[in-house]
Amino acid sequence: MKYTAIAPSNIAFIKYWGKKDEILRLPQNGSISMNLSNLLTKTTVEFNDKLTKDKVLFNGKEDNQVLLRVSGHLDRVRELAKKTTRAKVAIENNFPVATGLSASASVFASLSLAATKSIGLSLSEKELSILARQGSGSACRSIPDGIVEWLDGDTSSTSYSVSLYPPSYWEIYDVVVVVSKNKKEVGSTEGQKLVDTSPFFQTRLLGMKKKIEECKQALKIKDFTRLGVLSEAEALEMHAVMLTSHPSLIYWTAESLTVMKFVKRLRTDGLEAYFTINTGQDVHILVEKKNLNKLTKKLKELDVIRDIIINKPAKGAHLIV
Ligand code: DP6
Repeated sequence: MKYTAIAPSNIAFIKYWGKKDEILRLPQNGSISMNLSNLLTKTTVEFNDKLTKDKVLFNGKEDNQVLLRVSGHLDRVRELAKKTTRAKVAIENNFPVATGLSASASVFASLSLAATKSIGLSLSEKELSILARQGSGSACRSIPDGIVEWLDGDTSSTSYSVSLYPPSYWEIYDVVVVVSKNKKEVGSTEGQKLVDTSPFFQTRLLGMKKKIEECKQALKIKDFTRLGVLSEAEALEMHAVMLTSHPSLIYWTAESLTVMKFVKRLRTDGLEAYFTINTGQDVHILVEKKNLNKLTKKLKELDVIRDIIINKPAKGAHLIV
């Protein structure tokens, strides 16, 4: 049977960077994120006995690297279902890939849901999150709804995500600023293998439990200032580890820095907004509803911006008919 699923990408307030198990993708620390309403991947999967190998189209094109990773994930699904059938997969993304907008999260979350349904499995949310995690760590956070916590866990069955709050809980926005469509040089999987070469990584790990508690507290009382300050500092801390790895990982471009400094200046001028940034040059700006229009107007002053994508908390992976 053919099934289509949609999943959002997500932005982490508290980030995942470093694995304690490469194969199972068990993270070194837990993380907290928000699903993004306008960064979406739609994936259609059809297992078919007549196929001799998997066929994967990504935005209408065949791509060997995508095929390898997707087919590897389909193997996990086949193993769960105890079948060997091959599949036809069509993945469509509505946002740029490899620029720091976490496409692997929405791709592997939507793929996990569509593929398991198509092969005849009905997994629970927890089981789906565990499966998606093995495709790409951050994908496990795109399965549940809204604002989500990834419980790190020491085994595969204890490392999965749960919804902390539904999408309607808090109208906060993540304004994504696309500064370039150039692809990053080092992907997240490769980049993370370097964490232990940074002299700051072990120090970072010592503070993660406390950060998660602080983030949960800010979310609980809807304290935007606390959430914003924490998220911006957390992004810079993760990038401090990246910058001090050997070889160093410099994901920012001049344009990213322009946007980051602009956000700081806006704050000085009284507009409360905070930036966060993943692996890539595009910048995410967190803002409350009351300041959203002011922010988007202000961003027009910057000539480095190619596009902006406004997101609010969204539901997780779901099927469409
Ligand atoms: C910086 O989930 O893309 O976006 O598990 O190797 O596929 P793999 O890595 P991935 O890493 C995401 C890293 C991050 C931080 C985050 O989203 O938490």
